[in-house]
Amino acid sequence: MSIISNLRGPGLPSSHTLPLSSPSSSSASNKKKCSTLIPFVVALVVVAEIAFLGHLDMAKNAAFFDSWPEMFYKSHSPEGVDGTGVGKFDIEALGVNQNLVKESCEEWLEREDALTYSRDFSKDPIWVSGADQEWKTCDVSCTFGFDSGKKPDAAFGLPQQPGTASVLRSMESASYYFENNIAQARRRGYDIVMTTSLSSDVPVGYFSWAEYDFMAPVMPKTEKAHAAAFISNCGARNFRLEALVRLEKANIKIDSYGSCHRNHDGNVDKIEALKRYKFSLAFENSNEEDYVTEKFFQSLVAGTIPVVVGAPNIEDFAPSPDSFLHIKELEDVSSVANRIKYLSENPDAYNQSLRWKYEGPSDSFKALVDMAAVHSSCRLCIHLATVIQEKEEKSSTFKKRPCKCTRGSETVYHIYVRERGRFKMDSIFLRSGNLTLEALEAAVLTKFKSLKHVPVWKPERPKSIRGGDELKVYRIYPVGLTQRQALYTLKFKGDSDLRSHIENNPCPKFEVIFV
Ligand SMILES: *[C@@H]1O[C@H](CO)[C@@H](O)[C@H](O)[C@H]1NC(C)=O
Ligand SMILES: *[C@@H]1O[C@H](CO)[C@@H](O)[C@H](O)[C@H]1NC(C)=O
Repeated sequence: MSIISNLRGPGLPSSHTLPLSSPSSSSASNKKKCSTLIPFVVALVVVAEIAFLGHLDMAKNAAFFDSWPEMFYKSHSPEGVDGTGVGKFDIEALGVNQNLVKESCEEWLEREDALTYSRDFSKDPIWVSGADQEWKTCDVSCTFGFDSGKKPDAAFGLPQQPGTASVLRSMESASYYFENNIAQARRRGYDIVMTTSLSSDVPVGYFSWAEYDFMAPVMPKTEKAHAAAFISNCGARNFRLEALVRLEKANIKIDSYGSCHRNHDGNVDKIEALKRYKFSLAFENSNEEDYVTEKFFQSLVAGTIPVVVGAPNIEDFAPSPDSFLHIKELEDVSSVANRIKYLSENPDAYNQSLRWKYEGPSDSFKALVDMAAVHSSCRLCIHLATVIQEKEEKSSTFKKRPCKCTRGSETVYHIYVRERGRFKMDSIFLRSGNLTLEALEAAVLTKFKSLKHVPVWKPERPKSIRGGDELKVYRIYPVGLTQRQALYTLKFKGDSDLRSHIENNPCPKFEVIFV
């Protein structure tokens, strides 16, 4: 066995990744199977390590059969032997004094893992067949248009030729347009779904800093009625009309500017009108997850409290937990009516609901709206380019990347990270002795600070909530998660969850959301 430990160089599989340590099987027959398997597994280890050696450029690394530090001594640093006899050290000594080694595990991994992808997007941009889109910049080169000479990477609609991803893009509710339901769209053959659903591949929301001046000041509430309503169509696939009628029956005074139950001239500036009311009825035409339209966001701009009939998860879209009232079902109308009356009569309590206007919205609200700082067409291109590269990473060339480096008892893992909304990845490294969420966040911060990174949303957010030069991590999640998972539902359940993710995904890629 000594040959194995002597051979263990950078990137060789370390023994803890082997399936040897599972003596939990209780039945005698299982135990027997295990023990007969062990010689076989050991043989596999040797074969695997020899196979690994076969991949190395033996001419370049003639000294490979020496130990890992000696290899570097010989091949990289003649001046490292400084005549003091320090040249002869063992692995333990190295672990204590890493300065003695010219090239660290990190440097070695950065070099060995840095394979070039066959497609250079700067020369061969992502090409989407479709109407020109307007965006200022995109982190991956990306072209929209109708050039017939070249096969596009993606195009809108069905069907598409092989090799071209078919894209569905719509901001309509799936209650009205069933084809927008993600599962239905997949069944029909769409490769990429872009809808208001945060579970879609590239979400297209109604919200953005550019469209809504969320931090506009609160104006005096000069209207007598409790609430304003702008409902153009009384018909809807939810109970919004019934909710309106019941609120009126509960003595909530509503000035209705839309054609449904109109009692005011609708020819007004909507946001300016809303500013004068304490409440506004933000009644959507369907109660669908993530389907939140301008009715809600305009109310936030106007500094009026939205009374919501709509998305069951409206709290995910709110700037603070008490910034809205929610009629989840018709039975809620009377309690919501009581709340409207209470807040109308208690200015301090009412003002409390608008506190986010003075102190800034929650981090979760910022993280959501920041998504839209990158145009959905650019996010589509980043998604496409990421998928193209992930495909190539399955090739044998990429599978040969070491992705980790074992020295003595410690392994260094190579991890890639980028900011959400950007394409290019940067390297960070975690050590097996410190494979924790805290260390991951610290490594990400150190990296991005050293790069003097400016968050992608910086120019978009209103000045008052833009912050200074500091970076604050809101989420770090594996690339490929949906925004619903990334922002709300999936998190590493502790350090062991992160550890198993990193151990099971060589060169794992993460995305970070700064707030
Ligand atoms: C509401 O609260 C903010 C900040 O707490 C304060 O500046 C503002 O004057 C208050 N407005 C009213 C009408 O009380
Ligand atoms: C682990 O990482 C954290 C965060 O970077 C750091 O504060 C701590 O000193 C590290 N611990 C060890 C044992 O390296």
